[in-house]
Amino acid sequence: MSQLTTTGFHHVTMVSRDAARTLDFYRDLLGLKLVKKTVNFDVPETYHLYFGDGMGNPGTLLTFFEWPNAGRGNWGVGGIHHVALSVENEAEQLKWKRRLTDNGVPVSGPYNRGYFKSIYLADPDGQILEIATAGPGFDIDEPADALGQQVILPKAAQLPDGRDEREIRAATHPEPVPVIEDSMTLQGIHHVTGFTDDLVAANEFYESALGLRLIKKSVNQDDPDTLHYFWANYDGQRVLPHSDMTLFGWKPTSRHAREGVGQTHHIAFRAESDEQQLAWREHLLSLGHNVTPVLDRNYFKSIYFRSPDGLLVEIATDPPGFAVDEDPESLGEDLKLPEWLEGQRSEIAPLLKVLN
Ligand SMILES: [Fe+2]
Ligand SMILES: [Fe+2]
Repeated sequence: MSQLTTTGFHHVTMVSRDAARTLDFYRDLLGLKLVKKTVNFDVPETYHLYFGDGMGNPGTLLTFFEWPNAGRGNWGVGGIHHVALSVENEAEQLKWKRRLTDNGVPVSGPYNRGYFKSIYLADPDGQILEIATAGPGFDIDEPADALGQQVILPKAAQLPDGRDEREIRAATHPEPVPVIEDSMTLQGIHHVTGFTDDLVAANEFYESALGLRLIKKSVNQDDPDTLHYFWANYDGQRVLPHSDMTLFGWKPTSRHAREGVGQTHHIAFRAESDEQQLAWREHLLSLGHNVTPVLDRNYFKSIYFRSPDGLLVEIATDPPGFAVDEDPESLGEDLKLPEWLEGQRSEIAPLLKVLN
């Protein structure tokens, strides 16, 4: 069988305690579009909210299960540390810092990570987010056609001892930013960073299961004793946007992630079609992965399996997309239920809080 290579992330699903608070934060403060208001198909008395660009294109989607009674999650091996969203450039990034801090959300950075600049914040549940500049890219310290060949150490000025924290703290946009300007628009998933306690096994997994390639071997710039590996859809010339998965390599006895509020629940990569997803399922089975049957998620079809560290990974189809049950102009406006739950709408709807 030919090697299957994912185009990149389809969506990332996180856990929220309160759907209304999550809506305020991601729609009103970060300016993402609510593209679907539905329920968790497996627990239909709770919300599942989807945010993305205007059409909910794969690679831009952040989704949230509402777990009102769950405990707080924690990051660790087999979990995600942060989800990074893309912004055009440093000037626009500083506007985000100003807008967020003016709204009472603490922001750290901007830090120069070499390949991009980063600011960090947490959502109301404690999920760590990053806003990262699109460039300059991974070829600043290796040839574009030979990424990921050797361990590359950051410059001294990028490490904790070499950084001017006072200057970093002070950097911000000079004016308040009450309205999100078009130029500031967050442009989908820049990268997702998690933890492994076995980088060799993780490399084998992301390459063989998903067709991603190792594009950078470096160290965690905030903790330089820890290795930091990056994978992406890379054809030997170009790294595709929305495809960069990164992992910090921890020691084998390190603590594992705990599912819960403020944690990423799973990450989903793209399959182009139903046929490709079926081929992928066969491919994963041939590699010895335990893969679910294909599940119909209404807006895409899904299969699920786990990374060697225990991270839940999904492959979701690009079609049919979010306009399957709503006009493209009114995505996210009404509570949408899949056909098989529509008959229970009168019982389900009163259990859900009204979202404005
Ligand atoms: Fe990051
Ligand atoms: Fe998912």
